[in-house]
Amino acid sequence: MPQTAYAEPSSRTQLQLPSAYADFVNPEWVRLLDLLGMNVRYRRCAGAELLAEDGRVFLDFLSGYCVHNTGHNHPAIVAALKDELDASGPAMLQSHVADAAGLLASELLRRSGPENTTQLRRSPEAHHLTKAFFCSSGSEGIESVIKFARARTRRNGIVYARGAFHGLTCGALSLMGGDFWREGFGPMLQETYEVPFNNTAALAQVLKQESIAAVVLEPVQGEAGIVVPEPEYLAQVQELCRKHGALFVLDEVQTGLGRTGRFLAAQHYGVSPDMVVLAKALSGGLVPVAAVLMTEEIYHAVYGSLRRAIIHTSTYSENGLAMRAGLATLDVLDREKLIERSDELGRSLRQRLTQALEPYSMVKEVRGLGLMNGIVFEPPQQLRMKLSFQAFKAIHPAMFGQMIVRRLFQDHRILSQICGNNFMVLKVAPPLVIEQQQLDTYVDSITSVVDALHSSAAFWSDALDLGRRAFRV
Ligand SMILES: Cc1ncc(COP(=O)(O)O)c(C=O)c1O
Repeated sequence: MPQTAYAEPSSRTQLQLPSAYADFVNPEWVRLLDLLGMNVRYRRCAGAELLAEDGRVFLDFLSGYCVHNTGHNHPAIVAALKDELDASGPAMLQSHVADAAGLLASELLRRSGPENTTQLRRSPEAHHLTKAFFCSSGSEGIESVIKFARARTRRNGIVYARGAFHGLTCGALSLMGGDFWREGFGPMLQETYEVPFNNTAALAQVLKQESIAAVVLEPVQGEAGIVVPEPEYLAQVQELCRKHGALFVLDEVQTGLGRTGRFLAAQHYGVSPDMVVLAKALSGGLVPVAAVLMTEEIYHAVYGSLRRAIIHTSTYSENGLAMRAGLATLDVLDREKLIERSDELGRSLRQRLTQALEPYSMVKEVRGLGLMNGIVFEPPQQLRMKLSFQAFKAIHPAMFGQMIVRRLFQDHRILSQICGNNFMVLKVAPPLVIEQQQLDTYVDSITSVVDALHSSAAFWSDALDLGRRAFRV
């Protein structure tokens, strides 16, 4: 082990040595980034731009998987955090009433009500969200939802959708709609049931057992391939849940905070979930934070007596920095009208991408909601490309998508990724502060990459060479 490089980790330079990460954190991640040609050291990130140490400027079309809705290092959120630190307040006592948490909860709940829905289909029953629980990650939010649903219903079953991604802790992983992530980690939670997304028949069958505590869905599936629900689907799921005594839970970890053009994606569909999980963008991408919004009945089932006042907590849950960042983020979303912006820019972006990519046979469709979009590819029909495509697939199922990601990054300085549970879908999810001219750059860049994919033999052979070398096949 190269001891000398780390002997005195006093200077910034020493701490930043890439080999330290490779030696002490995760060498395989470094290898993967090297392989993709994406191992770049960034110096400054602002808005949708990432400035690399070598002077290159990249455009971020991934947003840290829907974290940077307000753009990187938004000055107002950074200033709020500096204020909070300067105030030397009770950052995290766990023995006091955290006022900022109360404020943030009320702001989140106010924005999440059914009155903000576009298609007013308010259910007569009061399923309004009235309480919030804070934690530090989306996965932790999902874990909380599982416990809360059990407490409220006294049932154990949890239903999730095929292709779903709800996080990687054991409970959340039990709701993962793909096997890869679970491999090697032993038994998962009992009584979990997978159903197809956008299909209520299978769900109705499972719910009939009357043993289901909750149905947990992403309103627009992210890692499954940016799958937008049929217009009536979520309302039908809600109705089935109510009929069979199960809770209707929406995981808005990616879709929330304006990403889809409404504060919650639920508001596009006029539904009133019993619980909503928010995370990622809630702190402007600067501090770990998550929130579970719930109905009064759920709160009472979990916490409803003095004895149970702290029955479910988390050390950093209401910490001052996260709460202040959350409040500042909501303020930025409002002041800069980023939610409306997401809606408008998303519509025009989808239209332009659809038009630009229409001539190319491997592009099946462009889909999404707001600025949460995906370009869906399909296997080629032409023999030449078909053979290369199969060779790619034999090396690694994600190889084809990663080739597009790599070319976008290296040739056009655009950071993006394919979906974690659907390798044929390229994400298009820039920060909501993205400028029109940056969107123009994206449309030109992806069109150029897709054009090369369809017209250049070298495009495939170079990537194939690289893949074979990397995987030693
Ligand atoms: C929809 C969804 N839910 C939950 C999670 C888990 O969030 P976290 O990584 O903060 O634990 C993710 C993470 O990508 C997600 O996309």
